[in-house]
Amino acid sequence: MNNQIYPCITGVAAWLPPDRLTNELLASMVDTSHEWIASRTGIEERRILKDKDLGTSYMASHAVMNLLEKKGMEADEVEVIICATITPDMMFPNTANLICDRIGARKALAFDMLSACAGFLYALETGCNYIRSGRYKKVIVVGADKMSSITDYEDRNSCILFGDAAAAVLLEPSPDEDGIIDTILRCDPVGKDLIYLKAGGSARPASLETVQNKEHFFYQDGKRVFKYAVQGMAAVSQEMMQKHHLTNEDIDYLIPHQANLRIIEATAQMTNIPLEKVTINIQKYGNTTAATIPLCIWEWENDFRKGQNILLAAFGAGFVWGATYLRWAYNPD
Ligand code: UT7
Repeated sequence: MNNQIYPCITGVAAWLPPDRLTNELLASMVDTSHEWIASRTGIEERRILKDKDLGTSYMASHAVMNLLEKKGMEADEVEVIICATITPDMMFPNTANLICDRIGARKALAFDMLSACAGFLYALETGCNYIRSGRYKKVIVVGADKMSSITDYEDRNSCILFGDAAAAVLLEPSPDEDGIIDTILRCDPVGKDLIYLKAGGSARPASLETVQNKEHFFYQDGKRVFKYAVQGMAAVSQEMMQKHHLTNEDIDYLIPHQANLRIIEATAQMTNIPLEKVTINIQKYGNTTAATIPLCIWEWENDFRKGQNILLAAFGAGFVWGATYLRWAYNPD
């Protein structure tokens, strides 16, 4: 008899700020155009949390509260909260702790994971291991980023890319063998000089100089990151498919990180998965970093059917990247 505990996603919810930053509006701020942005990235608009006094924990706690409401759960039933983010409200206390405060959860262990655009997959695998251990039965993994807080709106190379959002999933032990089957996570520091936020950490604390040099903003060598992202996402997806003897026909959905429509299309092409099976919402939200994958799960939840094969793939700063293979655990209500 197989005594293994399979973790599965049993619910998903999101929260998006109401304010929209369209390509047209960006074209009035920097030297760019809707045509350039749409054709080079696929993005048409993104959501921005405008209130300067509100951080990632605000969005994440709304996503988690929506999830609890949907599942008819009290905050104190949550045993673990893991927040994937690179834009914590502050260095410490951790954002997950601030989420607990906002939602009134007093019995959870809570911590953050900082793995950029692959953050949700890293946090999901960690959350799954709490369930697999047999000691925890209700784990929330939330991906949330207020990317507007680290974006230089005078730099046309980067300000067009990002949006703010939060989305959360509930993990529970599966009653059968549907659920999260496997995850492959990778790291290669070859990317450390290609995509980073230079200052504000212990190696380069904030100073007048770091502020004047705009070192508290996101930086990337977009062209080089693009090539690594395509190769990394496609290779890890193919590895996962081979490992589980899955052909492209066996995959019902590919849920890729949403950084650039061209990266998504290239990943789909290299894995031979037709675009009809690929979740794409980058046109509405841009790159929301740790939130992109749970945001897709949330938007496609009603299309998924129990037992369907779903592949998640992400690539981000570090580089860190990975893929998760899951069999969806429930039908729509
Ligand atoms: O999520 C984490 C991982 N990150 C990624 O996966 C992002 C990967 N990279 C990308 O998505 C793309 O590289 C970008 C969307 C960031 C840039 O697209 P690109 O096709 O690589 O453009 P580029 O940086 O090579 O720039 C091409 C041209 C340049 O002009 P010249 O030198 O050819 O005259 C840029 O100055 O486009 C210019 N350009 C723009 N023009 C209008 C760059 N940004 C803009 C802009 N509007 N916003």
